[in-house]
Amino acid sequence: MVTLGIETSCDETAAAVIRNGRILSNIVSSSVSLHEKYGGVIPEIASRFHIEYLSRVTKKALKKAGITFKDLDQVAVTERPGLPGSLLTGKSFAKALSYSLGIPLVGVDHLAAHLYANFLVDSPRAIRYPFIGAVVSGGHTNIFICRGSFKDLALIGRTRDDAIGEAFDKVAKILDIGYPGGPRIEKYARRVKKSPINFPRTYLDKDSFDFSLSGLKTAVLYYVKNRKMSRGEISRISWSFQEAIFDVLTEKIVRACKKFSIKEIVLGGGVIANMRLRARLKVVCNALGYKLFYPPPSLCADNAAMVAGLGERLLKKEV
Ligand code: KG4
Ligand code: ZN
Repeated sequence: MVTLGIETSCDETAAAVIRNGRILSNIVSSSVSLHEKYGGVIPEIASRFHIEYLSRVTKKALKKAGITFKDLDQVAVTERPGLPGSLLTGKSFAKALSYSLGIPLVGVDHLAAHLYANFLVDSPRAIRYPFIGAVVSGGHTNIFICRGSFKDLALIGRTRDDAIGEAFDKVAKILDIGYPGGPRIEKYARRVKKSPINFPRTYLDKDSFDFSLSGLKTAVLYYVKNRKMSRGEISRISWSFQEAIFDVLTEKIVRACKKFSIKEIVLGGGVIANMRLRARLKVVCNALGYKLFYPPPSLCADNAAMVAGLGERLLKKEV
């Protein structure tokens, strides 16, 4: 079975081909450089980019997979959530393809696809339910319980203001180190391990799995104000900011596992590419005997392989 996946929920125009769970091609074209001067994604620019690139990216994915449109058995597309204009471009394109080729179309939840990215490797790892799923990206900071199907993610925690990736992007803007902020902050933070700045950690109510990043963001803003920014100072701020966020994220994921007696954790989203976060969670999970899944870095950020993969398993009613 050959599935074409299409992903256009934000600023990545992506197409991928999967054959029975194996990635044959995974093409991503990003409009990120067009948004850089604004420090965040401009929806109108993203939609226009998708319209321009969708067809090209799809043809490239088919060529790399060594197939033609006629070899496709189905099309999977990101249905929700995302920027409405961006989603619409991908859905219209996928719908037209499925109609003209006479093959099924399956709509895929973007957040479920981020989690599914863990099971998209050449020798597919077994999915074990129930698990705590955490999607941590520029648009989302969501904690789910998945009890027995990727179609059924129960949301138990989310951000009340900024998403974690968004906070990385905004703090990077304050520090004037470019966009997207996550990889830049991680790089600066790697240079320092001492003299941290004590930024606030917001845990909200005792039993809450929600997040709030605005206090931390404001604390960074005030710290930076009227201070001379050397590379060393940027590194210290990056390290301290990152640790503050990861303290809260780690604590909430572990707390969710304890509360619901679940020992499997599945992670997804752009922020999960952060090596410091992976290392911290690994240490905690080893100590507690939890099983931790995170995708390879290339499958953490938005891509269409995760969409095609989940779409294929959904159509086969396997997940
Ligand atoms: O999943 P993604 O590609 O797109 C969304 O659905 O949002 O995530 C992009 C986000 C950006 O905010 C970016 O700054 C963040 O993920 N990010 C990181 C890292 N790499 C990307 N955040 C922290 N550390 C990283 N290494
Ligand atoms: Zn995403």
